[in-house]
Amino acid sequence: MTAVAANPTKIGGHGPPLQGMIIRDAVEADLPAIVEIYNAAIRGRISTAQLDPVSIDERLPWFREHSPESHPLWVDEIDGQIAGWLSFHSFITRCAYRGTAEISVYVSEKFRRLGLGRVLLEKAIAHSSHLAINALVGCIFSHNEPSLRLFERLGFERWGFLPRIARVDDVERDLVIVGRHISAQA
Ligand SMILES: CC(C)(COP(=O)(O)OP(=O)(O)OC[C@H]1O[C@@H](n2cnc3c(N)ncnc32)[C@H](O)[C@@H]1OP(=O)(O)O)[C@@H](O)C(=O)NCCC(=O)NCCS
Repeated sequence: MTAVAANPTKIGGHGPPLQGMIIRDAVEADLPAIVEIYNAAIRGRISTAQLDPVSIDERLPWFREHSPESHPLWVDEIDGQIAGWLSFHSFITRCAYRGTAEISVYVSEKFRRLGLGRVLLEKAIAHSSHLAINALVGCIFSHNEPSLRLFERLGFERWGFLPRIARVDDVERDLVIVGRHISAQA
């Protein structure tokens, strides 16, 4: 994918416009920054069922599962810094689900509430039809209010609720599955 410069005037949120932001396919050299953002979210305890920090080596097979043609991994770069990332991955690997992808989106704590999550997710929705994806889902803990709001804002609906399905530090947590169909023109 060609890097696309985001129009700063289109980025909302509560901070100043972000000049010089691009969203591009991730390369292996981005993995340390991707892992750093992920590990910070693991510590926050609301974003992921992964509870222990991950290493770059551990994350390499996951990185290599992505490809720009079917399951992209994008980074959001601002002035040479990786500020966030978004990944597409198989929701369920059985072939009848090949048109459905699960989306994960992570923004560095330093860059939150500036509109980056929204820009990444909007781009994923717009790009999905080029990937032959007709439905997107997100698997989000029910106490992850920022993510639920972000996805809802972008037209995702609550499609599933799995009560007390995870145990995080001895607290049972519910999982919400949010989803959105993609029209051919999206
Ligand atoms: C969820 C996350 C990606 C949002 O990224 P962000 O760049 O800060 O979000 P944006 O600035 O684009 O906000 C877009 C909308 O999301 C919602 N939102 C984002 N952060 C929020 C917060 N802390 N509280 C409530 N709503 C929030 C709002 O509706 C917001 O729109 P508004 O600013 O006009 O009110 C970010 O908080 C994050 O990386 N969290 C950890 C990772 C995670 O939980 N990922 C989801 C699992 S896939």
